[in-house]
Amino acid sequence: MKAMVLTSFGGPESFELREVPKPVPQTGQVLVRVHATSINPLDFQIRRGDYPDLVPLPAITGHDVSGVVEAIGPGVTHFAPGDEVWYTPQIFIGPGSYAEYHVASESIIGKKPASLSHLEAASLTLVGGTVWEALIVRAALRVGERILIHGGAGGVGHVAIQLAKAMGAQVFTTVREENFEFARSLGADVVIDYTKEDYIDAVMRETGGRGVDVVFDTIGGDTLSRSPDALAQLGRVVTIVDIAQPQNLVQAWGKNASYHFIFTRQNRGKLDDLSAVIAQGRLRPHVGAVYSLADIPLAHARLQSPDNGLRGKIAIAVDPSLMP
Ligand SMILES: NC(=O)c1ccc[n+]([C@@H]2O[C@H](COP(=O)([O-])OP(=O)(O)OC[C@H]3O[C@@H](n4cnc5c(N)ncnc54)[C@H](OP(=O)(O)O)[C@@H]3O)[C@@H](O)[C@H]2O)c1
Repeated sequence: MKAMVLTSFGGPESFELREVPKPVPQTGQVLVRVHATSINPLDFQIRRGDYPDLVPLPAITGHDVSGVVEAIGPGVTHFAPGDEVWYTPQIFIGPGSYAEYHVASESIIGKKPASLSHLEAASLTLVGGTVWEALIVRAALRVGERILIHGGAGGVGHVAIQLAKAMGAQVFTTVREENFEFARSLGADVVIDYTKEDYIDAVMRETGGRGVDVVFDTIGGDTLSRSPDALAQLGRVVTIVDIAQPQNLVQAWGKNASYHFIFTRQNRGKLDDLSAVIAQGRLRPHVGAVYSLADIPLAHARLQSPDNGLRGKIAIAVDPSLMP
């Protein structure tokens, strides 16, 4: 099978399209023909060498699969050849999804929502599972609460706006002005141009000085230390960004704030929960660009570029017939 193989840590040129052996499903595993995958910042973080000890080279990376079951190993009970499936491969364990075939334990695989194309489904598994964990499991967002979602036009943010809205929250989000309409179309109530206005000033103005109940940090930097200034009493801050520099959280004390740190975990339950929201018409991933398997290096360069003009996700059409 064809796979995009990471041969060394470095720039996008560190990839090589190679012919590699097709994997064989073992006990409890499913072999999936990958129709589509997507690009996440985690992919370029791995590629440039942020996690050298966790990724032995050469490696096949990639963290989203939408495809069709080709074969099953002994003991598999939930799936049969021909089923359309979606999932996030286990991160840092075994090969990823930049390949024509992938094997995974059936415990992390879900039935793909029928209303989503493979490109859409592959754009949702990792970011959708992360947002579910952040807003529902950890922040326990409630109807009528206010949430500030940073980076609302991005892969994670554009899903977070939709899920927060589906939960009945009032949604504030930081985006560039050119993405105001996009964010509003997803359900954002208050859009803040983070390049022109300090988000804390905007939140305090729009909430009459009360603040938001939840801050969802998708951007890092000094967001953790600044968030208490945007929070209401008993507010929660949820971050998905690993930040190396120390943060001063003393302001969190006065707000009785709590902090949650998330590294997304895979399981079928979250995928099934997302499917239910999709079936209600309340969630749809936005595919902002599509590249072929061979053009994954270009897709990486695009996602990493500061002025990439992207909204939502970059999907990869592993099946060439899915190229627009
Ligand atoms: N812990 C986990 O399990 C987990 C899971 C998924 C993602 N993540 C992490 O979450 C982060 C976001 O991922 P993603 O997939 O959403 O990336 P993405 O698709 O590149 O989106 C990032 C968004 O942030 C916006 N942005 C950049 N700086 C900003 C700022 N100062 N204020 C507001 N918005 C800003 C960008 O908008 P512009 O176009 O305006 O630059 C872009 O829309 C990455 O660091 C990723 O590694 C972690």
